[in-house]
Amino acid sequence: MAEPYDLVVIGTGPGGYVCAIRAAQLGMKVAVVEKRATHGGTCLNVGCIPSKALLHASELYEEAGHAFPGMGIKVKPELDLGAMQKFKAEGVDGNVKGVEFLLKKNKIDSVHGTGRITAPGKIAVSSENGGDAKLLATKSIVIATGSDVARLPGIEIDEQRVVSSTGALELPEVPKKLLVVGAGIIGLELGSVWRRLGAEVLVVEFLDRIVPGIDGEIAKNFQRLLTRQGIAFKLGHKVTGVKPNGSAVTATIEPAQGGAKEDIDANVVLVSIGRVPYTDGLGLETVGVRLDNRRRVIVDEHYATNVPGIYAIGDVIHGPMLAHKAEDEGIAVAEILAGQAGHVNYDVIPNVIYTYPEVAAVGKTEEELKEAGIPYNVGKFPFTANGRAKANKQTDGFVKVLADAKTDRVLGVHILGPDAGTMIAEAAVLMEFGGSAEDLARTCHAHPTLPEAVKEAAMAVEKRAIHI
Ligand code: FAD
Ligand code: NAI
Repeated sequence: MAEPYDLVVIGTGPGGYVCAIRAAQLGMKVAVVEKRATHGGTCLNVGCIPSKALLHASELYEEAGHAFPGMGIKVKPELDLGAMQKFKAEGVDGNVKGVEFLLKKNKIDSVHGTGRITAPGKIAVSSENGGDAKLLATKSIVIATGSDVARLPGIEIDEQRVVSSTGALELPEVPKKLLVVGAGIIGLELGSVWRRLGAEVLVVEFLDRIVPGIDGEIAKNFQRLLTRQGIAFKLGHKVTGVKPNGSAVTATIEPAQGGAKEDIDANVVLVSIGRVPYTDGLGLETVGVRLDNRRRVIVDEHYATNVPGIYAIGDVIHGPMLAHKAEDEGIAVAEILAGQAGHVNYDVIPNVIYTYPEVAAVGKTEEELKEAGIPYNVGKFPFTANGRAKANKQTDGFVKVLADAKTDRVLGVHILGPDAGTMIAEAAVLMEFGGSAEDLARTCHAHPTLPEAVKEAAMAVEKRAIHI
């Protein structure tokens, strides 16, 4: 067998490929194992990137039809879904090729196939055609195998009429009626795409609110804006069955707490009720790597599993299933393996929903602060009072800053508004440095820009916002 690697990473999603690159930068001999034809994992192939391409294109289509006339631009937009899908595919292609280039640039060996850990430091990689497995020897292994779609018992996802996010990114035509199961991030992002392109969208959500985990006040206003855009919601309900009905489907829904059933016809049903860690076929039982009750790989604060030399990061471990969280863990574990002090601050992980308007958050929600008994002050500022938002006629939403009542340290920032995902970055930097609402309020912000609303919300913590 060839000279062993310092590190073999299984899975080249944002966690795995970033980990491999950082380890190579730090002088390690690294290989990656990936079973998908292209690198980049869920995020680049069937997640973040294709969904954002369709969100961008469909948002412009919607604007061209509805906002352009008010700005004095006369056009009659016509949808060419094939061309829009090509635009999306080109974005994916550019990104996955970029990862391939970076792996080569960093002299990382790329092994195609499914990796199975046969013993600590030993990996067998089998190819799809069932040929002889390639054996790799390594000092350390990082499991970065990500996650898979959560399924509803008894409801088969055929990716035609009953789709997961993967099928919902590939629909060959705009469905007349789209039934979305789950008012989480995927349901609302992809529901928005198809609503903008002409579908009637109904979202059925188990809980009595949308986007659990997002600040309640933001979620309530977000739902109001989505409803105004034409997305219908049925909260407190669950889908219990889906039957084929000609070329369409009939879904049975019932109240979450039990009660009378109701049938709803739809052309396509999108199942978006969450994702589950992916560890199938990895051989974890053989080597004795422990999983928790949600089948996530258990790791300590250094991303080490209970088996020496085996580490795990990204969607397959605890924490939010987000690409940037996986990336930062990839960097941290590579640095730890190199003897450095790699670390991720889980209190400052931004979360963005790329709808219109966007929702962006970092830190604690009001509900979390209340539950933890932490006294806080709130500063809010609406985009209706922001000069740039008014000029652009994009005034939906507001910024909310939550600061510690005693120290003024910012504990959470929540934004519902245009480009919220870009604006949240300054809040994350502020919080990473332990900044106060006053620090934010006294930082000069360019005029006229949307981030002035963030500054004003920080000023509002001390009830001294100027423009309201
Ligand atoms: P993954 O990206 O899932 O990569 C794991 C890789 O491991 C895969 O390529 C898989 O083929 C491979 N693999 C698994 N088992 C093996 C094996 N045994 N051998 C070899 N290879 C294996 N997050 C965001 O932050 N922003 C977004 O906008 C966003 N949008 C999303 C949109 C959608 C529709 C979806 C589904 C997800 C989205 N996410 C988003 C979540 C994001 O995709 C994940 O959090 C992220 O991809 C996790 O990275 P990872 O490296 O842990 O795993
Ligand atoms: P989610 O966890 O965001 O939302 C799932 C929703 O489904 C919840 O509201 C839940 O209450 C509801 N639900 C669960 N079971 C149900 C049932 N039987 N009937 C009706 N509703 C039910 O999961 P989602 O949207 O599938 O996304 C998975 C993950 O992917 C996200 O949590 C996020 O981590 C990641 N993601 C991130 C994006 C981003 O950062 N912009 C975009 C898309 C996905």
